[in-house]
Amino acid sequence: MIDLRSDTKSLPPPEMLQAIMDAELGDDVDGEDPTVNALEARCAELLGKEAALFVPSGTHGNLVSIYTLLRPGEELICHRLAHMYHYERGGISAICGALVRPIPGDYGTLDLNALADTLARGDLHRCRTGGVALENTHNNCGGTALTPEHTAAVADMAHEFGAFLHIDGARIFNAAAALDLPPAELAAPADAITFCFSKSLGAPVGSAVCGSTEFIHKAREARKLFGGGMRQAGIVAAAAMWALENNLPKLPDDHRHARQIAGTLNSLPGIELDIRSVQSNMVYFSVIRDDINAPQLCQRLLAHGIKAKSRNDQLIRFVTHVNMTDADVDSICSALAEILT
Ligand SMILES: Cc1ncc(COP(=O)(O)O)c(C=O)c1O
Repeated sequence: MIDLRSDTKSLPPPEMLQAIMDAELGDDVDGEDPTVNALEARCAELLGKEAALFVPSGTHGNLVSIYTLLRPGEELICHRLAHMYHYERGGISAICGALVRPIPGDYGTLDLNALADTLARGDLHRCRTGGVALENTHNNCGGTALTPEHTAAVADMAHEFGAFLHIDGARIFNAAAALDLPPAELAAPADAITFCFSKSLGAPVGSAVCGSTEFIHKAREARKLFGGGMRQAGIVAAAAMWALENNLPKLPDDHRHARQIAGTLNSLPGIELDIRSVQSNMVYFSVIRDDINAPQLCQRLLAHGIKAKSRNDQLIRFVTHVNMTDADVDSICSALAEILT
């Protein structure tokens, strides 16, 4: 089966499993796992930060970051379609005791006028804005890449106000590949950044949080508080390290595959697709036809050996990933043309 539902669906190849077998292990809660220590050092280096922390998931990394930086009763401003706002079980409210204030913006950016209007000092009635969060690439907006200029503009406004900037960079390496820039340049204006090994990088488990040494020290305490201290975590860190070395350079292929699929879809009748949003490994499109809707298209694709998921009667998101070959993408395009022509 070819799985277009998410890049989280990729499976580890034998070489990655061998790296797990070969990993040197220790108790990471006590900082004694050499594989985790090497991975954290590599993450900090790649993102241009002083230190990094290996965490179990992207949700965990975002929560640890916000818990460390925000005080209860403060608010976090983020995009109205942010993953942190919609799909993380309301952890920022439930666990950090903070308010999430969503604002609009095109293609995953934050509307700077809306940001200026929303930053709140906390008069008697409103809670103070403690932080601002960006998402890069922005999943719900199509996998769009935020430029360093936009990130710097948001960071300047937040910092001038005394608030921090956190980046949910679950797919920050996709943004870097899309913009052809080093990831450190995209992370530079941020006080904290989370990224995931278990998405486009194709590892089975894990994410990293990066920032200053002081921030990571506190984040490590928060990780323990949330039950995210893992013992011989080198088992999964070895896969993450293998992914950084071997899968990271392949991200431009995933983007090329997404563009090819988007090009095919755009040539088919009754498909609405904003080609400007196709910047990384995602293709969002709507099926606007009388004869077939989005769930039915996914059902028909299954007969071609392709797994896909609709969001509602019209909207579908395809995600390309490291398990997909050029031949797979040709098959996807042929199947789409056959069903929709
Ligand atoms: C942008 C973004 N942030 C965070 C997450 C959460 O990651 P996890 O599923 O590892 O908790 C996801 C998951 O898909 C995501 O797409």
